[in-house]
Amino acid sequence: MRTGELLEVTVEKGIYRGLGLARVEGQALFVVRGLPGDRLRVRVSAIERGFVRATIDAVLEAGPHRRPAPCPYADSCGGCAYQELDYPAQLVLKEAVLRESLGRGGVVWTGAIPVHASPREGWRSRATLHVALSGAGLRLGLRGEASHRVVDLPRCLQLSEAMTGVVDGLRRSLEKRPGLATRVQDVRLLESGGAGRVVVGLDGELGPADAPQLLALQEGAPLAGLGARLGPPRNKRYVHLAGDDSVVSEVLGRRYRIHSESFFQGNRFLVEALARSVRDGVARGGRVLDLFSGVGLFALTLAEGADSVLGIEGNAQAVDDATFNAASAGLGHVRFRSGDVATTLATVPAERAERIVLDPPRSGAGVALMRAVAARSPESILYVSCDPPTLARDLKALEPSGYRLASLELFDLFPDTFHMESVAVLRRF
Ligand SMILES: C[S@@+](CC[C@H](N)C(=O)[O-])C[C@H]1O[C@@H](n2cnc3c(N)ncnc32)[C@H](O)[C@@H]1O
Repeated sequence: MRTGELLEVTVEKGIYRGLGLARVEGQALFVVRGLPGDRLRVRVSAIERGFVRATIDAVLEAGPHRRPAPCPYADSCGGCAYQELDYPAQLVLKEAVLRESLGRGGVVWTGAIPVHASPREGWRSRATLHVALSGAGLRLGLRGEASHRVVDLPRCLQLSEAMTGVVDGLRRSLEKRPGLATRVQDVRLLESGGAGRVVVGLDGELGPADAPQLLALQEGAPLAGLGARLGPPRNKRYVHLAGDDSVVSEVLGRRYRIHSESFFQGNRFLVEALARSVRDGVARGGRVLDLFSGVGLFALTLAEGADSVLGIEGNAQAVDDATFNAASAGLGHVRFRSGDVATTLATVPAERAERIVLDPPRSGAGVALMRAVAARSPESILYVSCDPPTLARDLKALEPSGYRLASLELFDLFPDTFHMESVAVLRRF
């Protein structure tokens, strides 16, 4: 087999990262956007140790759930791996990928995985778009599949009407200011729950002297607030420029202030279901440790049933939001500490009957932190994950201490993409 070679294959199944698995004479072939049951002519694009990567040259016979992409930019845009897979089949595929990723990591789960579906359009409550300017004009959108090239998206189905209105306005403003458009690289959008207020954060090669021009970008863009990361690459500082610097979202009756620089769950339709699952997965009583606590979504959700809650979070702005959110709700027994989770946790003496919740970024918590968590002998561990392989690695690290999966749920927070969220509850058996 060689790069550039054309082959005819049938996709056996979908695997993580939007790939379809096919085989040629026993050799595994990972086909970008290959869907289960597809008969394809593919072109070998890379040969790595153990596997070969290929792209679709032609669909010879569509798999049973292939359908026309609802988005006209699906071919070139890398934002959605599953635009061409009907939605019920996406959910089946994601459940299988989650189960299989755990199995590959040595964590066997034969129980049910309830799957929470999302409306497929307008689900994003936050998004990062990229900007590029070339002779052909301004491009504002997402990157192409396995590429750094920005694909211009006049309309993205993931975005709400309010976000789309803001993007349209920014596009016109940037087109009028090519000098600035060459240096703005990222447009981060954050939308309030319900009210459709959009706060924008800009990033790029921008300095304090750009502030007046950046302010002018607001013209015609119905945004609620604007800020930017300014300064040299290694020493950027968020500067608030106009309007609001945060939005407010309500989840299960609690209000959250979310700064433009803080993390918040990205699917407006499923955030309540996710928070409810976390609430239901943690028994009442005892102290809750909420690791990677963001603006306090799970800490506040669990406050009512807990003797006390301590959140640990590395982003000082998010800790500020979380502290404000707990105080505004009159929750004096909910506190937050700013710092790296591993080092801060080591300074917190363990208590009896602790309940530990952790929601790390995609890279996962890591084996060392999982061992530190287990060494505290918590009553239960609830792990919210956005990456099945790192979830598998981290759950496997708990096994020697006797913690095993008790339940697993999947939340399709990112429909049409290959991403998924899961909630794993572990108890000591
Ligand atoms: C997936 S988010 C979860 C936030 C929160 N649980 C929520 O649901 O909104 C992960 C959070 O971990 C924080 N973080 C990432 N690495 C960290 C570390 N090593 N120590 C502390 N916080 C970290 C990020 O700033 C982010 O707020």
